[in-house]
Amino acid sequence: MDIEAIRSEALTCTKCRLAETRTQVVWADGSLDSEVCIIGEAPGFNEDKQGVPFVGAAGQLLDTLLAEIDLDRTQAAIVNVIKCRPPGNRDPQTDEIEACRPYLSAQLNYMRPEVIITLGNFATKFILDSPVGITRARGQVYARKGASIVPTFHPAAALRGGRFGGISTIDAMREDFRLVRNVLDERRAAAEARAATSTESIAADGAEQLDFFG
Ligand code: URA
Repeated sequence: MDIEAIRSEALTCTKCRLAETRTQVVWADGSLDSEVCIIGEAPGFNEDKQGVPFVGAAGQLLDTLLAEIDLDRTQAAIVNVIKCRPPGNRDPQTDEIEACRPYLSAQLNYMRPEVIITLGNFATKFILDSPVGITRARGQVYARKGASIVPTFHPAAALRGGRFGGISTIDAMREDFRLVRNVLDERRAAAEARAATSTESIAADGAEQLDFFG
């Protein structure tokens, strides 16, 4: 897939009304070649100005949560459900999400990530393809198209404060990020075990071939 061509197309996209009010399209940060994809909602004021997702206060909190599980932005792709800022930071509208769907789908199909972290309701509903709200969805790992999905609150919700089931929103997010660490470690261990098994069978095949030619 020519993801660079799709990015170029996105950067000049006029498929929905947000093209009229955005400063620039916000494509991604981090690396689309990593195994973790983090999906937010939509660019805000700072992101629209800088062209980079999660550069404001919510982004700083995201960086902190990533650091707590030994990850940084270079080890993940950071994207949004919609690539242009809604005026006044209003919620994305359904037709805007649909117009933008091919771009996020292309990013995910290119990446085939091991783990997808969905931040808040819009990303969670998009990925789980279900109307379930984030408060009910979080705290669990879901399987979709070969990836482990870990839904959590949007960092902006944690910045607003508030409590959830006896713990603060930020601590609930910390729990969810620990789930991400566990899933990554488990998937890595499983991949290593698979690689070891296939090396053994290649060695066995090699031995058979030697016999055959011998
Ligand atoms: N909130 C989001 O959902 N995405 C951003 O890029 C910034 C803030």
